[in-house]
Amino acid sequence: MSDESIQETQFSRGLEGIIAAETKIGYVDGLNGKLVYRGYDINVLAEQSNYEEVSYLLLKGHLPSKDEYDQYVAGLKKSMDLEKDEYDLISQVSKTSHPMSTLRTMVSYIGGKDSGSVEPDLEKQEDISVNLIAKLPTIVAAINRATQGREFVKPDPDLSYSSNFFYMSTGRKPDTVEARMLDTALMLHADHGMNASTFAAMLTISTLSDMYSAVTSAVSTLKGPLHGGANERALALIRKVGTPENADKVIGDMIEKKEKIMGFGHRVYKVYDPRAKILKEYAKYVAEKNNKPELFHTAEKIEEVMINKLGSKGIFPNVDFYSGMIYYSMGFEPEIFTPIFAVGRISGWVSRALEYLSDNRLFRPKARYIGESELRKYTPINER
Ligand code: ACO
Repeated sequence: MSDESIQETQFSRGLEGIIAAETKIGYVDGLNGKLVYRGYDINVLAEQSNYEEVSYLLLKGHLPSKDEYDQYVAGLKKSMDLEKDEYDLISQVSKTSHPMSTLRTMVSYIGGKDSGSVEPDLEKQEDISVNLIAKLPTIVAAINRATQGREFVKPDPDLSYSSNFFYMSTGRKPDTVEARMLDTALMLHADHGMNASTFAAMLTISTLSDMYSAVTSAVSTLKGPLHGGANERALALIRKVGTPENADKVIGDMIEKKEKIMGFGHRVYKVYDPRAKILKEYAKYVAEKNNKPELFHTAEKIEEVMINKLGSKGIFPNVDFYSGMIYYSMGFEPEIFTPIFAVGRISGWVSRALEYLSDNRLFRPKARYIGESELRKYTPINER
């Protein structure tokens, strides 16, 4: 078989359906709506575990013993605070940048200060991974404060991972339900197959670059509206529709114009996203608790219209449709939704990049050439 015919038979736009790596970390069953981390159903983890344990599970491959858990959590707490120059840079960059751009800058900056980060050995890269898991909530919370022109709130070592994130972001400690909702949202976002941002992290580490660079790539990739940026836009849409009565017309018009409805559809799930199912329950709870049931009813009506119109094409709500509503009800502004996604996804990024590095092969797909078939004659610029 010639090289050309190999390209021809294996051509898949956007690498859709192509298997390019093996993993023990997790899988997404898109036809049956199942998500599994290291052999554990996401529904069970969401109900019984917590983010610290889930991040350990993804990273190390097993649920921690009590001692392993305590040691891991102590390590996270030791690394979670930022240095003065790092807080200062957040203040400065936040003046002009979107929070995702500031987050990208910060991961890159912290990496630049770690002179040992370029060693490609697994142990060093795993240490960096834990450092990044520890620091991401602090960075994102500080970006949130800076964006609102408020004082930074330092981490409180007595709080859990997600409660601390809430506290550093808002300046108040969450109540039990808020703490559980946020923790669940972070667990649900922790890993999701070889999605675009995870692939970006794996691609970067496959060159034997370092974990800071891999996570910088991942953050950059998550930023886009077809990936992490969808939750911000999904909430904007729900608010634009405003009432359940408007949903039919607004959504119908958008579909007619072939516009994408944010928070719906998925490259892998062709049924209801199991994460959206869990978050929908929380969205209903917070809407009722805050005496604002209209937002939830509008979202539910949009869902109904979408499923009626596009369910037959496998278009259902994805994780982003209800997550924005939940974050908003907790007092987070839309522009911080995607950074919150990153706080959850950091464990998946680093776990998958480490796994790939442990049996590394440089990623190098090809593009099918569809340009000029004959060589063209070069004409000097002053003769064109
Ligand atoms: N709104 C309207 N129509 C849609 C949507 C949507 N959200 N999603 C897919 N469709 C349409 C497609 O245009 C296509 O129509 P066609 O048959 O007329 O060509 C049909 O439904 C089937 O689409 P798929 O092939 O299943 O979708 P694809 O795999 O290409 O895209 C994607 C997946 C990019 C996520 C898309 O659904 C989308 O843009 N959704 C909105 C953005 C979003 O919510 N992103 C978050 C994804 S989850 C995450 O990243 C965490």
